[in-house]
Amino acid sequence: MSATRLDDQHDAHLEGLENAYARLLEAHGYDGVLLYSGAPRPFFGDDQQASFATFAHFLHWVPLAGIEHSWLLIRPGQRPLLRIHAPADFWHLAPSLPEAAWTRRFTIETGDDAVPPAPPRGRLAIVGEVDAATAERLGAVLNPPALCRALDELRMRKSDYEIACLREANQLALAGHAAARRAFLDGDAELDIQLAYLKASRQRESQVPYQNIVGLNEHAGVLHYQHYDIEAAPHRYSLLLDAGRRVAGYASDITRTWAGDDADPQFTALIEGVERLQQRLIAELRPGLDYVALHERMHLELGRLLSEQALIECSSEAAVERGITRAFCPHGLGHSLGLQVHDVAGRCDSRGEPLPAPERDPALRLTRTLEAGMVVTMEPGFYIIPMLLEPLQAEPAGRDIDWAGVARLAPHGGIRIEDNIVIGEAGPINLTRDK
Ligand code: GLY
Ligand code: MN
Ligand code: MN
Repeated sequence: MSATRLDDQHDAHLEGLENAYARLLEAHGYDGVLLYSGAPRPFFGDDQQASFATFAHFLHWVPLAGIEHSWLLIRPGQRPLLRIHAPADFWHLAPSLPEAAWTRRFTIETGDDAVPPAPPRGRLAIVGEVDAATAERLGAVLNPPALCRALDELRMRKSDYEIACLREANQLALAGHAAARRAFLDGDAELDIQLAYLKASRQRESQVPYQNIVGLNEHAGVLHYQHYDIEAAPHRYSLLLDAGRRVAGYASDITRTWAGDDADPQFTALIEGVERLQQRLIAELRPGLDYVALHERMHLELGRLLSEQALIECSSEAAVERGITRAFCPHGLGHSLGLQVHDVAGRCDSRGEPLPAPERDPALRLTRTLEAGMVVTMEPGFYIIPMLLEPLQAEPAGRDIDWAGVARLAPHGGIRIEDNIVIGEAGPINLTRDK
């Protein structure tokens, strides 16, 4: 996309935010809101800091991922005031503002103190990780729940600018996935696959939107596997790679699973089956669809795949009913995606009140009726997780499972295929596959 087109989209995005914040502040009885970027935390008793992610409501306005100790004051009818923390410091490179069109919509101050702008007259809210004493000193209400929920809701439907960022985040992540696949086929260790991914997707590890999951063999069955083995594995059954990229704060979240030279042929058939199932479910996505119903469909389709592959002897419906499909896939079909990988407001009622996860699906992060402009992940999976499958052996449901097949597949860990999809007025737009 040309820089000018993106600038225009960004301008429209900011104008939309100005209007929406003005409406919400009036509705909630505030004359202004101060958003705080947040700041990294030092380790206890140490002078080193953990890696840091800027508060997403701040990033919704200001596309400077990683900016810290900075403030943004929004008042209806006035230019947003951005105060960037830029200390005089010869140990570090001070932040500098890009020559970018978006900056023209802001009044920008840079300074070497981290204090918020002087509060305006009237009722002020502060949103962000701010201490109560600071809010009290400014006479502000700290993180008022109703306003915070309304701001979360505003992030649910993405502007054209946000979708352009998410598309670019997909493109960069896909370059990483291609390099990681080559490293896997060359027999590299998990750490080398991770490094190949980071290099090709042009990012350092502290910038990833979530810790990349690089699971070889049975590690592919650990849903959020968090290590990178430094030694190459002696066998090459499988690689599950779940890895993303940020662009202007916006995250991609892509998973692919590949079979290695030592894979059982049935594992390859299962990868293809999960991918076909995923594409069928993606084709269903449209405004008005209940995401919980689609999640339920995933279980039925997974039951069908298990039955086709003779891993179960019962019907698909019985496999769902008896908890078999949930033992093979304990996570949700997907979630909202944006400035956070598991973006906000995925579970709430029509008035914006937060809802708990469904009892049968405690890991389902999105339970809403889909609307145009939402961006969701679609990530069905199939895993051999002994902790979940072993208890079934002692139950009647266990008689429906081909345990020899499960044992044969166990060294492959599992399968997940994950794409990022815009809910378009006319149907799905797949940011991971559509050009
Ligand atoms: N990468 C985490 C997830 O897929 O939700
Ligand atoms: Mn993922
Ligand atoms: Mn995901």
